[in-house]
Amino acid sequence: MEKKFKRTLVTCALPYANGPVHIGHLAGVYVPADIYVRYLRLRGEDVLYVCGSDEHGVPITIKARQQGCSPQDIVDKYHSIISESFKALGINFDIYGRTSSKVHEKNASQFFRKLYDEGKFVTQESEQYYDPEAKTFLADRYIVGTCPKCGNESAYGDQCEKCGSTLSPEELINPHSKLSGAEPIKKKTTHWYLPLQDYEPWLREWILEGHKEWRSNVYGQVKSWLDGGLQPRAVTRDLDWGVPVPVEGAEGKVLYVWFDAPIGYISNTMELLPDDWEKWWKSPDTKLVHFIGKDNIVFHCIVFPSMLKAYGDGFILPENVPANEFLNLEGDKISTSRGWAVWAHEYVQDFPGKEDVLRYVLTANAPETKDNDFSWKEFQTRNNSELVAIFGNFVNRAVVLTHKYFEGKVPAAGELTDVDRETLAEVPVLRESLEKNIENYRFREALKDAMQIARLGNKYISDSEPWKLAKTDLARTGTILNVCLQLCADLAIAFEPFTPFACERLRKMLNLSSVAGIAGPQSVGWEQLGATDILKEGHQLGEAELLFAKIEDDAIQKQLDRLAAIRAQKEAEAKAELAKQVAPQKDECTFEEFEKMDIRTATVLEAERVPKTDKLLKLTIDTGLDKRVIVSGIAEYYSPEDMLGKQICILANLKPRTIKGIESKGMILMAKQNDGKMRFITPQEAVVNGSQVG
Ligand code: 2FM
Ligand code: ZN
Repeated sequence: MEKKFKRTLVTCALPYANGPVHIGHLAGVYVPADIYVRYLRLRGEDVLYVCGSDEHGVPITIKARQQGCSPQDIVDKYHSIISESFKALGINFDIYGRTSSKVHEKNASQFFRKLYDEGKFVTQESEQYYDPEAKTFLADRYIVGTCPKCGNESAYGDQCEKCGSTLSPEELINPHSKLSGAEPIKKKTTHWYLPLQDYEPWLREWILEGHKEWRSNVYGQVKSWLDGGLQPRAVTRDLDWGVPVPVEGAEGKVLYVWFDAPIGYISNTMELLPDDWEKWWKSPDTKLVHFIGKDNIVFHCIVFPSMLKAYGDGFILPENVPANEFLNLEGDKISTSRGWAVWAHEYVQDFPGKEDVLRYVLTANAPETKDNDFSWKEFQTRNNSELVAIFGNFVNRAVVLTHKYFEGKVPAAGELTDVDRETLAEVPVLRESLEKNIENYRFREALKDAMQIARLGNKYISDSEPWKLAKTDLARTGTILNVCLQLCADLAIAFEPFTPFACERLRKMLNLSSVAGIAGPQSVGWEQLGATDILKEGHQLGEAELLFAKIEDDAIQKQLDRLAAIRAQKEAEAKAELAKQVAPQKDECTFEEFEKMDIRTATVLEAERVPKTDKLLKLTIDTGLDKRVIVSGIAEYYSPEDMLGKQICILANLKPRTIKGIESKGMILMAKQNDGKMRFITPQEAVVNGSQVG
């Protein structure tokens, strides 16, 4: 039987404060978590919603070095950008804390110290990479090299971002320091390790036996980690940015960011509720749910639970860890460093008043079971053809017609027809499905259920045409509008978790207050969803306003142009990089073999494009021996006019070939770069045509 809890603690992965959050973060973690929290609150549940910035770790110090400022400057800047963009998107945590806070430093330190005192760590001396120029150990992302699994030349010491493999610095091929580029040396250092292997049997039982209901991607990753055998995991680093290791003789060492960050969930709760935090973390009546992206699974399902288990003291474990897969952008992996992203703080500036649209699209297309793609065209279509044309259009027609025929007062429902009854009866069915879907973290499906109510209403009003009936049968018109308005109220409830801003406008239009607290005479909550009399006869509606507005092509084009510019710049950089590479030397040939080639100078007499081709020029040349035609694939680099009168070098005795119906006798010698760019070879001074080159 399913366990009943008294309260729910929802945590969202703490984003690194080394850059703004983008749509990948939103789709993966924050939008689904927000839907879940809003839903529970709408149902009157006791919920605590915790997040904050992850302000330690090498990504932060690297960014600070790049920008020539302190790590504190970096985290201050991004903490504020990130927290503002969450607010703007309606993602209102009960606390959005910081791991650089005093409360956290004290708590993380104390957490480590208790495990240390109780002998829960092992120490190991090992040789680790050290940068002799920068005079520092190269932890995690300070070291880069070639990924042994996929060949990516910019893999980090802890992870390859191309293939997603978790790595250790020793696995990198050709490792070098990110700081100085120097080849690292090995130097002895001592660190504390959590012996994860000791927790393996317990983890197997708790997750593999006890949580078969977890998403298959999460369960599968945990299983493969456990089947692969767990190793002791270092929980300290030789760095100067982080929580200092609270042990004598540990100068210059800090807690590993992945040790302190999850403790941040607890610290942030303590900061918000200094006297009451334990009820959220130590009561078996609390349901803990971690929302994360797939790259965080091992830390939330294996490392952090093992830390809590080691700590004891009644800490609860997560009931579920709904991790999403990744979202791509216009067919390419989102990349902060390449700028290939849609940033939350830029979106809210570029699309003011359209916060819900992003929430809607990211949910409709959420990467719940596999990686998915975000495209601006789809974004536009989902807004214009779904939110505007179905949801908004239906509500608008119902409210405007009620104002037109009934002075904005909910008309009486007369006798209901079969269609009326069947339409209304579908809502409780959809409600049940919606509830099941949200409670099982299937937010895409849940959104479909909510949208189905709007589709139902839109079809009902179109089929029953109250605007036509009004001339002949006002009572029946009133009944139809009454049904429509009940459906509008259903929408105001069902969509609240997904599109909270639109629902606020809708409640205003319907003159309803809600659990979220809009002033008005009548309040609605989840329990009324699907009732046939949410709006009572005579209830005065508010003014009609547009729920959603169309997004025009030019707004989309602007976004596509921005991405195209990034893509073009990246392609140019890649080409320039390729151009620098020189093709390896060919196999040896003898002088006799070389002598067989008859290379001569010649002058171009006529030049024209070969019709219906992009690359070919037909050149008539004077070789000193004869006049002949050569077809050459250089049209990408030279126009016919460029070639006219030029002295070139040719391989004269190449066996003739017919190209596009033209007999080509010989070949023009070109210098070819690795990226394909070509330039013809010309004598440094004009010489007689037919002069031999060799
Ligand atoms: O992957 C990340 O962005 C990490 N900063 C998430 C940390 S989650 C938690 F454990 F703090
Ligand atoms: Zn790789």
